[in-house]
Amino acid sequence: MQPWKYIVIDNRTPEAKNKLISTMMEQNQVWAKNASVLFLSLAMTEKDGEPYINAYHDLGLANENLTLQVVSLGLNTTPIGGFDKKRVIELFNIPSDYTPLVIYPVGYPGKLEDQVEYVKGRETKERTRKNINEIAFLGDLNTPYNS
Ligand SMILES: Cc1cc2nc3c(=O)[nH]c(=O)nc-3n(C[C@H](O)[C@H](O)[C@H](O)COP(=O)(O)O)c2cc1C
Repeated sequence: MQPWKYIVIDNRTPEAKNKLISTMMEQNQVWAKNASVLFLSLAMTEKDGEPYINAYHDLGLANENLTLQVVSLGLNTTPIGGFDKKRVIELFNIPSDYTPLVIYPVGYPGKLEDQVEYVKGRETKERTRKNINEIAFLGDLNTPYNS
């Protein structure tokens, strides 16, 4: 069913790029404006007039594939959830059965020393993952998987 759409923004669409960047939090604008291409991902969250929550799952998978393809081409991307979704709906005339979810700015990886402090902090902080017992359970939600 592919319950998603992407609005692709590149050097052919400078007005759309300005509009999309303007919806982002300031700390995202400073680096995302340097991206050559931006993908605004939209989930089809309503189907036949009913909420369709599988779309969130499916768009996540599509976005993961987009990310893997980007990296395999030697490019890089960081998802952006920090943008004004209501404003995007207005500026891009998004129909009510679609929900803007995440933006993927894509470009060549830059040098860490050229980045703003916010990005440096994000890129150098320790990467943590939850313990397996916080996310996996055996048979019910009260029995940690590794107990
Ligand atoms: C759904 C989602 C939204 C995100 N939104 C932002 C954002 O608005 N700005 C930003 O700089 N990074 C954003 N990130 C990136 C995260 O801050 C983080 O750098 C990235 O998920 C890598 O995390 P890890 O080091 O734990 O693997 C987002 C990530 C996800 C998954």
